[in-house]
This record gives sequence, structure tokens and C-alpha cells, in this order.
Amino acid sequence: MKCKITVFNLLFTALLVSTPLFSQTARPVIVNIDKPMAPIQPTMWGIFFEDINFGADGGIYAELVKNRSFEFYKPRTGWKVDVASNDSSHFVIQNRSELNEINPRFARITLTEGVSKFSISNSGFRGMGIKQNNKYNFSILASVPPESNIRLIIVLVSEKGEKIGETSITPKGKEWKKYESGLVATKTDLKSSLRISFEGKGIIDIDMVSLVPGDTWKGRPNGLRADLVQLLADMKPGFIRFPGGCIVEGYDLKGRYQWKKTIGNIEDRQLIVNRWNTEFAHRLTPDYYQSFGLGFYEYFQLAEDIGAEPLPILNCGMACQFNSAEVAELDQMDPYIQDALDLIEFANGAPDTKWGKIRTQMGHPAPFNMKMLGIGNEQWGPQYFERYSLFEKAIKTKYPDIKLVSGTGPGPDDELFKYAQGVLKNLNPYVVDEHYYRPPLWFRENATRYDNYDRRSYKVFAGEYAAQSQFTCSPDNKNNWDCALSEAAFMTGLERNADVVYMCSYAPLFAHVDAWQWTPDLIWFNNLTSYGTTNYYVQKLFSINKGTNVLSMLQDNKPLTGEKGLYASAAVDNRTNEIILKIVNTTDKIQNNSIDLKTSKKILPKARLTVLKNATSDGLNTIENPEAIKPADQEITLKGKKVELSVAPYSFSVIRIKIQ
Ligand code: AHR
Repeated sequence: MKCKITVFNLLFTALLVSTPLFSQTARPVIVNIDKPMAPIQPTMWGIFFEDINFGADGGIYAELVKNRSFEFYKPRTGWKVDVASNDSSHFVIQNRSELNEINPRFARITLTEGVSKFSISNSGFRGMGIKQNNKYNFSILASVPPESNIRLIIVLVSEKGEKIGETSITPKGKEWKKYESGLVATKTDLKSSLRISFEGKGIIDIDMVSLVPGDTWKGRPNGLRADLVQLLADMKPGFIRFPGGCIVEGYDLKGRYQWKKTIGNIEDRQLIVNRWNTEFAHRLTPDYYQSFGLGFYEYFQLAEDIGAEPLPILNCGMACQFNSAEVAELDQMDPYIQDALDLIEFANGAPDTKWGKIRTQMGHPAPFNMKMLGIGNEQWGPQYFERYSLFEKAIKTKYPDIKLVSGTGPGPDDELFKYAQGVLKNLNPYVVDEHYYRPPLWFRENATRYDNYDRRSYKVFAGEYAAQSQFTCSPDNKNNWDCALSEAAFMTGLERNADVVYMCSYAPLFAHVDAWQWTPDLIWFNNLTSYGTTNYYVQKLFSINKGTNVLSMLQDNKPLTGEKGLYASAAVDNRTNEIILKIVNTTDKIQNNSIDLKTSKKILPKARLTVLKNATSDGLNTIENPEAIKPADQEITLKGKKVELSVAPYSFSVIRIKIQ
């Protein structure tokens, strides 16, 4: 697959669609339009969200202050005292765990006689991305004894040390209160910091220090980064799975994700360590915690905003089997199952129910209309299915309409997977989550994976997949075009088998260029900008060109599944009256194809061709060159009911044809 960029390649690519010099036209491809086949589920292409690679804190959650409540294991992480002094008594961490178990720590600043000015700084998540003319909302909880008189001067400081924004506040009163003030940045800077100077005399206690940009998604105060949400919205995803991934499981049960601890007032959401913090020795991230500023309410809201079905995944009484493998005893599963029942009430219950009331108080009286729920993440073995069965029984008894998602373990073809397949015959999940982290070749070879699938077996949720250019968990994996194109080839097989494959999502979703643990990832970002990888564009093109029903697309009576490196699938969109063809060419040759549209209907001559391609298989987008490989649209003219197509080397093409 791999080949180097040469002048020959470049010339060759420039000649693409118009000059079929190097390849003979193959036998015609027949698309049968008048016999639509299986419906394609509206949920077919979706999103997998996990707080890995600074995906939430430091990523889509727009808060810029790291360790805002001084609750990290090392409570001064992210903070430094600016003014050199041997006297540490000016900035100490107090602990009130007797009074406040959830948010026990706060910082005490003391300005004694002779010290009338003192400052601390927060470095953000690998710096703070600040944009010129953008408003920033600073807030802080403070308590000041009556005899103290202290003014806070809040300054945005650029990486070079310039002052690029300033405001001030003067908190008063012993009672803890929230103080807020806005400032406008005078300069754009990728890695700024926030300095708080204290002027006056006495003591001030502070907590929940926050700086949130004004330009969040929909301008929400505890909001999300608009550019990142926009990339998700642009995919028009059918569903969003959250909050993971292994984060659901935790390293151990204590560190598992507990949705009830992620709702309500921000200061009442108990921070925990992020399980990706020290997972990989080669990518240690000791400052990675979950503040839960992005919690379950916000996930549901995000799903609603981008028109995706929410798919929460809950811990099933098992911690990560790759780590502690800790499990809850079977007779102690009630709290876990109750969490699931309560979540359904939180999402869908009337405002006068216990959990529906909390959702209402948080600002959403209408139900979120959750239809699906995942039990456990990537669990395996008898331990998993024993626990899954308990959930299935309890949930189906109380909420028979909720569709359950079960797992199969980490691999798509190993012994654990085969065991799961056997057990699942006696269970009743709506879909079963399969994971494929495999080399690009596996994806091309598995484009036929579901062609001969036992139709009596379970429906598939291809819940986590990504071609690995090196090997799973290698820090050298790249989001290169070879991987993306191989995923596209595989996805034609998923689409062709939409009668059994109901849902699919690439994983993981996000990665901060300076703070990632896992690669490859769909969307990369720094503190200011973000970009879609080649894999992102493949996902997006499938999703926005989904269609409503599969059509048969055959050459010599066989689907195109890699013979001569070509892969294809076809669909009809009954809502727009369009035929949608998807063709993947994984070779370095132009492939000339004649596609016969078999139909009694009228075909309009003008069609739209979208091509995602690269001259070689190893190209990729980067933060510096984010659109090196991106889709390009053109109009094409059909000859009656024929599409004559020169399929570019290393390309993924989508053709939309109007019918009447
Ligand atoms: O996507 C990264 C991890 O891969 C997920 O957390 C886990 O489910 C899988 O092993």
C-alpha cells in the first residue's frame, strides 16, 4: 500500500477523473434501484466520547483553570506562587473534610504586615488558549473575615509574559460566596496563564477558581468548546455514546464513573483521578483528573444539541479487567443496578419524580428521551454476563422499552469474543458492542465480515474501531490515509449489512496535541484550534451520506469487496429521492468503472461527486496543515442511466444521484 511521493505520483493524480490512461474499464457494476433492501438505522453512524487524551477537562469542557478546587492529590498542581518568598504561609491549603466531604480543600491567602501584595498563577491545561477580543468570565468562591480587606487583580498573562487582559474584584464577608467578573483579551495566545494578585491586608479563603471563555457552544456559562462541538455536529451523528470507554470501568471500583456524582452544582461534583493518568508509562499524565464539569446532564444536553441519540454506558460492577479486575459480589449488585434505574428516571422521568426533578432543577424539564443504555464497557467472561443478566432482568421489568447494549470484550475474533457469542444466544440485548483495534489490512480483509453473518444472531454495534498503523496502544500510531481508507473499505461492508449492523463509532474521539495518551484519534486539537483527521472525513462522509435503505451493488454478481482493491456500497435516501454510491479505491491505479443504474425511474443527469483522496497512502492532516486531505465536491453528468467513473488512486468517492 505504501508508496513515496514522487513527481510521477503528483502528475498522475492531477490527471485523475478526466484521463483514464492506465486502466481498462472493468465489467459493469449493477446497482438495483427498484428493489431497496434493509433499512439503514438512523443510528448507523455515531460518536464514541471518552475522557481520554484531555478529551473532557482540557478539551471539550471549556474551563481553563486546572485544579480549580485544589482537590488534586497534590493540591497545588497547576498553581504556582509568582513572587519568590521563603515564607510559605501566604498560600496554604486548608482541609475541612469534616464539614465538606465532596470538596474538602480550599486555599488560604494571608497578607501579613509588610506583605501587601502577593500573587499566584494557574497554568491551565498545557497553557490557556486565549483569543483577542473574546470575553472571559472569571469566577471564584471566597470567604473573607470582616477585619480583612483584600482586592483581587486578575490578569491574563501571555506565554511571553505580557498582560493581555485584566479585571478585579473585592470579595466581602465571611460567608462563602461566588464572585464574578469579565475581562476581554487584547491578544491571541496559545499558552497563556491566569495570575491572581492579592492586595491589602488580612486573610482570604478561595475555592472553585474558574475562567471560562464567553464563546462557548451556545454561549453556555459552564459550556463546551464551540469549535469541538461544531466538528461533532457537522458529522450529523446518529448517536453519541458517553462517557467511554475504560473510564466507565475505572482502574478499580472506587475510581469507576458514577453518574450521580457528575450532576447538580459544579462545586458538589466530586473530582476523581482520571484512569488514563498513569496508564501508559510512555505517556504519563499525572495532572489528569475528572472534575465532572462535563457531567451526565451536559452529555445529554450535548446529544440533544447535535441531534444524536444519547447512549450512556454504565459500570456493571466490574473495574477494568486489564487493571485491577475488581468486581462487586453478585449479591452486592443492587447499588449498580439502582444507578441504572435511576438514570432512566433522570433522563426520562416526569419533573415530579425524584430524579426527573433534579433534571428539571438543572434546567431541563422536558425528558431527554433516552432510548438506549449500555451495561458495562469492554467486559468479558462469565463474570460479565452474570452481571449483565441481573441488569437485563431489572431494567426490562421496570422499563421494557429501554434498549440494552452489551459487550463482547476487547477483540473481534479471540476466545473471549467466541465465548461471548455463545452466551449472548441466551440473552436479549438490542445490540452487542464489538471492538476492532486492528491493522489497516484487517479492515480491508474484513469488509466481508458480515456478508455471511448468521442472521439469527445478535445485531451489531461496531462500538470502537480504528485502524492501527503500528499496533494497539503504540504511541507511534498515526491517523494516516492508509488507515482511513482501510476503515472506509470496511465501512462499505458495514453499510451493505445494515440489516445486522445497527450502530458504528470510531474510537477514541478527541486528543490534545500536548496531552494525549492514546493514538490514533478522530479529532485533534490544541488550546486554540482543532482539526478533523482523514479518518474524521471518512466518518463524516459516511454519516452525512447515510441513506435510508441498502441497495444491491454488484459486479459479476458479487459485491465489491476488495478484488482489484475496490470496495463499494450503495443506498437510497427515500427522504431526498437520491441514490448514494460509495466507492473506495485502495490501489495506486485509476480504476475505470461503468455503473449501471437499474431502474424504471427517471434519473436526473446532474449528480454530485465528493472525493477524498491523496497521492499516496501515507498522507495525514496535522495541526499545522489541518486540511491537507479533505473532501472536494464537483458536479458530474451522467449518460442516461450510466455513471462512467474514473476512480482516483487512493480515494474514497461518494456520488449522490437524483431520481424521480
Ligand atoms: O478507546 C480507547 C480504549 O480502548 C477504550 O477506553 C476501551 O474501551 C478500549 O480498550
